[in-house]
Amino acid sequence: MKKVLLLGASGSIGSQTLDIIDKNLDKFSLVAFSVGKRSNIIPDLLKKYPAVKDVYLINEKEASILKDKYPNINFYSGELGLREITEKTDYNMCVDALVGFAGMEPAVIALQRNKILCLANKEALVTGGTIINKLLIEGHGKLYPIDSEHVALAKCLSRVNKDDVKRLVITASGGALRNMPLAELKNAKAEDALKHPTWNMGAKITIDSATMMNKGFEIIEAYYLFGYGLDKIKVLMHDESLVHSAVELKDGTFVLDYGKPDMHVPIEYAMFEGKVDFDLMHVKTFDELKDCHFHEYNPARYLMTELAKKCLSLGASKMIALNAANEVAVYRFLDNKIGYLDIHRIVSTVVEHTALNKEPSLEEIKQIDKASRMEASRL
Ligand SMILES: NC(=O)c1ccc[n+]([C@@H]2O[C@H](COP(=O)([O-])OP(=O)(O)OC[C@H]3O[C@@H](n4cnc5c(N)ncnc54)[C@H](OP(=O)(O)O)[C@@H]3O)[C@@H](O)[C@H]2O)c1
Repeated sequence: MKKVLLLGASGSIGSQTLDIIDKNLDKFSLVAFSVGKRSNIIPDLLKKYPAVKDVYLINEKEASILKDKYPNINFYSGELGLREITEKTDYNMCVDALVGFAGMEPAVIALQRNKILCLANKEALVTGGTIINKLLIEGHGKLYPIDSEHVALAKCLSRVNKDDVKRLVITASGGALRNMPLAELKNAKAEDALKHPTWNMGAKITIDSATMMNKGFEIIEAYYLFGYGLDKIKVLMHDESLVHSAVELKDGTFVLDYGKPDMHVPIEYAMFEGKVDFDLMHVKTFDELKDCHFHEYNPARYLMTELAKKCLSLGASKMIALNAANEVAVYRFLDNKIGYLDIHRIVSTVVEHTALNKEPSLEEIKQIDKASRMEASRL
């Protein structure tokens, strides 16, 4: 029985993780969880999962009211609370389904404590990839990504000979604005960018999908997870999101993971530590997939993907700045405070102004993140 700490229980990945727990009550027991602002779901979760002993929520006042109501539960809150719940709770598996930089430090702590980390929070690898990989190399904990593309790649790589691999092919839907003429992008509003064609996800990742910053983050994730350099990672546009990613072999053929878009599949794969049954396809060319359309991506439309690639080639501090400025800009865009193209303008300027540091410590990562947020807000 795995004792699970679920960070981000109120979110899209968090609620789907609860579905997996509910289906496998003999294998997983929820012992702790976090929510952000949606604290109204706490009473229901406490009722449904009696093994829960620790809960995090952002608001400190609300936490103290809940402490009086539930004297047997430890409530954590405020800026340090996520760190504390990850440090103090008794768990074997941490599912990190937080969005943004908030998910980085808990991921590091879970590994430092030798736990199994199921990581949906891609921002953790984008900003803390150097530290996370060092911990894993030193034998601290285990990491299983929760991202449809990376789970697809992990599955494909597990069935091929490493020497036969030519490159990784990460598929991309192109997001909500994929068919909007380039000249009109400057007028795109949050409500347009939130209409994702194939996936139903949280607001931030949906905007990241429209700009394809998300695909940039996924290239960085793939770099840290699988150890392939930029020249061995290709992004391929794929309208239907049925091929979740592929491995191209040196003989020109492809091994690929094909299936309906459903995040329960990668969450389950991660929580079962890869020990699930799955089928892959092996094709000579993508033309064999009659219900799928593929095409090359246009770098002029997806400036954020290009920027992410540049940051990866430069080093860690640039990726931290990229993530921090992007978070600030995306939330301002969601609030209709800036235009769609301002996201790239702000983020690229912050990245440019950030000094290069290829191996920052945890404290330095936090400092770079903070400085980049301030600069992005000013811009
Ligand atoms: N959704 C998907 O299909 C999908 C697919 C692949 C990867 N991912 C990745 O998975 C992660 C989660 O995405 P999501 O779509 O599930 O996001 P989401 O629906 O917005 O949920 C995010 C969760 O994080 C919590 N949270 C946000 N800021 C916080 C803070 N400062 N402190 C504490 N908690 C905070 C939210 O709490 P409240 O809502 O209560 O405020 C919520 O529980 C992201 O990194 C995303 O890129 C998502």
